[in-house]
Amino acid sequence: MKVITTIQELQKELASYYVANQTIGLVPTMGYLHEGHQTLAKAAVAENDVVVMSDFVNPTQFGPNEDYEAYPRDLERDARIADEVGVAILFAPSVEEMYPHQGGVTFEAGPASKILCGASRPGHFNGVLQIVTKLFQIVRPTNAYFGQKDAQQLALIEMLVRDYNMPITIRPIAIVREEDGLAKSSRNVFLSETERQLAPNLYKTLQVLQRNIASFNQKKAIEQIEAATKGRVDYIELLSYPDLQPVTSEDTQVILAAALYYENVRLIDNIIFKVGE
Ligand code: PAF
Repeated sequence: MKVITTIQELQKELASYYVANQTIGLVPTMGYLHEGHQTLAKAAVAENDVVVMSDFVNPTQFGPNEDYEAYPRDLERDARIADEVGVAILFAPSVEEMYPHQGGVTFEAGPASKILCGASRPGHFNGVLQIVTKLFQIVRPTNAYFGQKDAQQLALIEMLVRDYNMPITIRPIAIVREEDGLAKSSRNVFLSETERQLAPNLYKTLQVLQRNIASFNQKKAIEQIEAATKGRVDYIELLSYPDLQPVTSEDTQVILAAALYYENVRLIDNIIFKVGE
């Protein structure tokens, strides 16, 4: 596996794949890889002639009081893991390489970026769509792989590709969980021992709410999650998916999505399901 840090070198490496019309899989990540990323990469390896994984903690998607500096990083370990699962190129550029100009064109991700995680992370999805668009332009992948854990991000990227006619297939990959049900996340390392024990109750409560979806009540749902997790709910919402609108009787697929604050970390989780299942 090659670790490449410049756009020029990456495009030189990919040139023969474009010429031969071969398929390129892109797995965008912010590094500190876990099993969730490995699952994305394995799917990409199975479905493409070559796989590029990006490893870049994108500053434009972090707010001023968020954990950009503290976000865990370990390129050496990432390279080992990516290599093991068959990634051909790990693209790990510097911030200067990705953002050489100040004050240029920025992104406005639209109304679906202002709810759920976007409500407490203003501008976050503008930064996500900015970096994802740059990666799509740089790599020109056939398929791009995103986890369903970040369901709002996934929905917005689907909208981006649809609305801007990008010739890329988005491949959603199911949430990978620890044995006790906690969704895998690079940020789980910030949980205290007690929080780590209680955190799986977020998913367990979502499952209970799903089973009783006909009587879903947001206020009661907050109480249930907080009692079970001892965390503070940022949001719990039931929306249509992937358009993220209030549910109507016409909607068949919905998302039950929640975010929860602990002392040093904010966890998200969701269940996407068909109504009546
Ligand atoms: O999901 C992530 O890790 C990031 O938001 C992404 C898609 C790699 C963009 O920085």
